[in-house]
Amino acid sequence: MPNTATLEINGQKHEFPLVKGTENEVAIDIKTLRAATGGITTIDPGYKNTGACESAITFLDGEKGILRYRGYAIEDLAQKADFLEVAFLLIFGELPNQEQLEEFHSDIKAQSLVDDDVRKIIDAFPKSAHPMGVLSSLTSALTAFNPSSVNVNSEEDMYHAIVKILAKFPVLVAWTLRKKQGLPLDYGDNSLGYVENILKMMFKKPNEEYVQSQVMVDALDKLLILHADHEQNCSTSTVRIVGSSHAGLFASISAGISALWGPLHGGANQAVLEMLEAIKEDGGDTKKYMAKAKDKEDPFRLMGFGHRVYKNLDPRATIIKVSADKVLNDLGVEDPILEVAKGLEQEALNDDYFVSRKLYPNVDFYSGIIYRAMDIPTDMFTVMFALGRLPGWIAQWREMRLNNEPIGRPRQLYIGETHREFKNIKKR
Ligand code: SDX
Repeated sequence: MPNTATLEINGQKHEFPLVKGTENEVAIDIKTLRAATGGITTIDPGYKNTGACESAITFLDGEKGILRYRGYAIEDLAQKADFLEVAFLLIFGELPNQEQLEEFHSDIKAQSLVDDDVRKIIDAFPKSAHPMGVLSSLTSALTAFNPSSVNVNSEEDMYHAIVKILAKFPVLVAWTLRKKQGLPLDYGDNSLGYVENILKMMFKKPNEEYVQSQVMVDALDKLLILHADHEQNCSTSTVRIVGSSHAGLFASISAGISALWGPLHGGANQAVLEMLEAIKEDGGDTKKYMAKAKDKEDPFRLMGFGHRVYKNLDPRATIIKVSADKVLNDLGVEDPILEVAKGLEQEALNDDYFVSRKLYPNVDFYSGIIYRAMDIPTDMFTVMFALGRLPGWIAQWREMRLNNEPIGRPRQLYIGETHREFKNIKKR
């Protein structure tokens, strides 16, 4: 393959380097395009054909349904690793040995208190507030209580900010849930594992001994691993571009939470459950919803289906679907919604509209069924997605900063009014 691409404009040829990644992906390096062509740029709404960066964190092949974190297959990590190990892998590039993992966890535990004044902020929210809005606000507020974590330039300062957010974010998640439920906001228990502690903070009742369920621990651990990173998705790109102005890690993560909230992105897991509930209420009439999803006049989409990159089964959906059966069985939960989901999936996988557009179930299609079996409220599902995605956001932000990437500032094609003289209001 030649190592350049040639662009001919108005009879003039311009050569641009072809760059190849370690998985043989090829990109045209257009860093010199504007200068070489006298100001010509590209345009690509949604960046469907545009790479924003070179990254060594996550590789996915949408045609083959492959997902790897730092070279390790998602299937292996979901089966054999735990969430904190995967967080270390994503952020620092290697699986930790026992000593490194213990040191990482103890550094996190040392930061697991959240300033009590944060309670005043959460108290100011109405109980009806959507948890994603609360979480994004509280995460940004962490900046006020941890000023040393704002302008971090050295790797050491970044490390301190990283262990702080990994420590405090689960507390904010638990407080967001418990605030809605009118339960006291307490701290975790540093004698527990990372995921065990999250579950205890979320679910411990003040008047009862908390009994850990290994089924819940394993289920949440696996779900968090499966959500941990996904290369340059909408919310991760948001974290990177906010961080590219050298805004702090907490502020960048807060922006990522807001991007994830959208129903086309992480908010889809909540929208899937609401859709499945509506279908069930409708007597299981999946055909009606399939027709709505295919009707161009109807804004309704089959939530949990389709993906910008996967044009094959999302490997995470495959794992979660198997896990859903096991978790519900182990928890002794009978949820008719699971059968509605499976029926809908089968219909869509045999429907030409979906097959021809390569629309398959994505990570959000089955995850809510497990969260629901764990007694997590539907409007907290995207918060759980954010909890899983946190290490990926951190890893991508750290990579962007360590690579000294330039501030993100896309160009545009102006299509508005050309110059015109100002008119006094009396003449308009
Ligand atoms: C996540 O990017 C990531 O990696 C994200 C994520 C991650 O881990 O970070 O994987 C997490 O966000 C998963 C996606 C969750 N969102 C949903 O489930 C919402 C429903 N899905 C769609 O809105 C849609 O599939 C997107 C947003 C996910 C992808 O949209 P694209 O890539 O912009 O595709 P498109 O809108 O151009 O659709 C192509 C065609 C269109 O039809 P035509 O114009 O060709 O006739 O497919 C149709 C669309 O109308 N289509 C759907 C559909 N998704 C696409 N039709 C009905 N139902 C759907 N769900």
